Amino acid sequence: MAIDIKARFTSYTERWMLLWIGAKCLFAELLSGGFSNLLDRTFAKLYTSLSTPQQNFTRLSKTLTTPTGPDFAKCEADLSPVPRYVALADGVTLELGPGCGTQLPRFNPKNLTHVYGVEPNAEIIPALREKIESLLEIRPLYTAINASFEDETALKANGIVDGSLDTVVCMQVLCSVADAKDVMKRAHRLLKPGGQFLFWEHTASKDRVTVYVQHLWNIIWSPLLGGCAMGVDVETAIMSAGAWDIVELGRDDGSERPYNLLPRVWGRLVKVEK
Ligand SMILES: C[S@@+](CC[C@H](N)C(=O)[O-])C[C@H]1O[C@@H](n2cnc3c(N)ncnc32)[C@H](O)[C@@H]1O
Repeated sequence: MAIDIKARFTSYTERWMLLWIGAKCLFAELLSGGFSNLLDRTFAKLYTSLSTPQQNFTRLSKTLTTPTGPDFAKCEADLSPVPRYVALADGVTLELGPGCGTQLPRFNPKNLTHVYGVEPNAEIIPALREKIESLLEIRPLYTAINASFEDETALKANGIVDGSLDTVVCMQVLCSVADAKDVMKRAHRLLKPGGQFLFWEHTASKDRVTVYVQHLWNIIWSPLLGGCAMGVDVETAIMSAGAWDIVELGRDDGSERPYNLLPRVWGRLVKVEK
C-alpha cells in the first residue's frame, strides 16, 4: 500500500512543471496584452514554445519527457505512433485542431489532394501560417481555416460536407472540444465510406480515484492549457461515433504507469462501406 500511495502521488503530481510554465505564460500575456483573449493567447504562447524546444525548457526533469512534456514533436516521434499516422493521411484530409502546426512536416505530400486545418484559436493561427509557409511542398496543399470544427458554415464554405473526406487527422484535440461525442459523430459523417480516422488522444482513466484526481486537476489545468480536460472518455466517443473497421487500435493498459493522468488511446479506423 505504501508503494501504491507513493506511485499515485508521483503520478498525480508529475505534471506540475507544465502547469508552472502555463502559469508563467499566463502572467507574461496578462502583463503584455491585458485580459482580452487572455486564455487563447496563453495557450498559443505555451504550445508554440513547447513546439520550438530549442528556445526553452532544456532543464526540465526526465519524468516530464512524455508526450505531454517538453518538445512535443520529439516526444511524439519517440513514444507514439503519431508521425506514422500523419504520414498515412491521403486524399482530401481534415486536420482537427492543428494548433501551431506540429504535425505539418509529417504529412506525405505525395498522398494528399488537399489538407484543411480547422483551428478555432485565432491567437495561434499566425504560428500555423508561418509553419505552412516554411514547408514548400505542403504550402500549396494546406488551407488553415480559423473556425471550430462545429462551425458547419465554415466547413461548407470550403467544400467540407457529409461524405467528402478521405482522412480525418485528430491528434490531442478531443480533450478540448465542448462535446467529444458530437464532434466524433460529425467526423464520422464527413468521412467518405472507406475514409480513415487517424488519432492519438488522452482519455479517462479506468481507475476511479484517478478519474477523480483528473477532474480536480482540471480546475487549473483546463484554463492554462487551452481548454484541455483530463478524464474525458474520448475512447467511447470515438468508438460509438458510427460503424468502423478497426485497422489498428491501442490503449495504455496501465501496466507501466497505473495511475497515469493522461492515459493514451490511438488508432486507425476506417468508416465502414455501406
Ligand atoms: C493540444 S492542441 C493539439 C494541436 C495539434 N493537433 C498537435 O498535434 O500538436 C489542441 C488544439 O485543438 C484545438 N481545438 C479545440 N477545440 C477545437 C474545436 N472545437 N475544433 C477544432 N479544433 C479545436 C485547440 O485550439 C488546439 O489548437
